[in-house]
Amino acid sequence: MKLGKHLACDPAVHRVVAIDGPAASGKSSVAHALAKQIGFAYVNSGAMYRAVTWHALQHAISPGDSAALIRMLENSCIDCDFEDNESRILIDGINPAEHLHEDRVNDEVSTVSSIPRVREILVAKMRAYALDYDLVMEGRDIGSVVFPETPYKFYIDASPEVRLRRRVAQGRRDQIAARDHADSSRRASPLVLADDAHVIDSSNLSIEDVVGEIISRLKIKGMIR
Ligand code: C5P
Repeated sequence: MKLGKHLACDPAVHRVVAIDGPAASGKSSVAHALAKQIGFAYVNSGAMYRAVTWHALQHAISPGDSAALIRMLENSCIDCDFEDNESRILIDGINPAEHLHEDRVNDEVSTVSSIPRVREILVAKMRAYALDYDLVMEGRDIGSVVFPETPYKFYIDASPEVRLRRRVAQGRRDQIAARDHADSSRRASPLVLADDAHVIDSSNLSIEDVVGEIISRLKIKGMIR
C-alpha cells in the first residue's frame, strides 16, 4: 500500500469517519476533500460495488443471476489497497477505475449490491482497511452496518433537484431516483439514517462548507484539534 507516513498511526486504534447518503448528494467530493485535510485514507465503498458489477458484466453474467455472480466473486482474486491515499480495487489483477461510471454499471449496481453474499465479501474488505489506517469511508451503510461503533457518523443529503443537477453537470447519465429507491428498499443493509449520525443538507452548501461543518463536529468530539 502506498500511503503517506502520517497515516501509519497508533496500530491499536484506527478511527473511521463514516459518510453516508443517497446518490449524488456530494458525499464523494466531501469525503475525498475531508480525508485530504485531516490526513486520513479515503475509501469509496461505492466504487467497490461498481467494480464487482463491471466485472460481472465483462464476464457476461447477468446481475440478476445471483448464484452465478457469487460463484464468479468467490473464484476471483479481489485486492483492495490504496494509491495516493485513495482506495483502489483490483479484480483478477485488473483495475476497472475508468469503467465504474459507465451507464451499464449505473444501471446494474443496485441489483448487485442487494445480494447479501456480495455485501458480506465487500464489507470484510472494508473492515480490513481499518485494521491498518485511519479512514474516511463513504457509502450507504458505513455508519449503520460496516462501522456501527464509530462515533464519527455523517449523513449528507441534498434535494432531488440539486442531486440531479449535479449529475448533469458532471456529464453523467444516472437514474439516481431509481437507484435511491432500490438502495433504500432492499432487505440487505439498506440506505438508512443511523440514529447517531449528524445530518448535513448540502443543497445550498459548497464542498468546503460541508467539510468545514464536519471538521467542526470532529473538533467538538475531540477527534481532531
Ligand atoms: O456511491 P455510489 O453512488 O458510487 O454507489 C454505487 C452503488 O453502490 C449504490 O447505488 C449502491 O447500490 C451501492 N452501494 C452500497 N453500499 C455502499 C456503497 C454503495 O450498496 N456502502
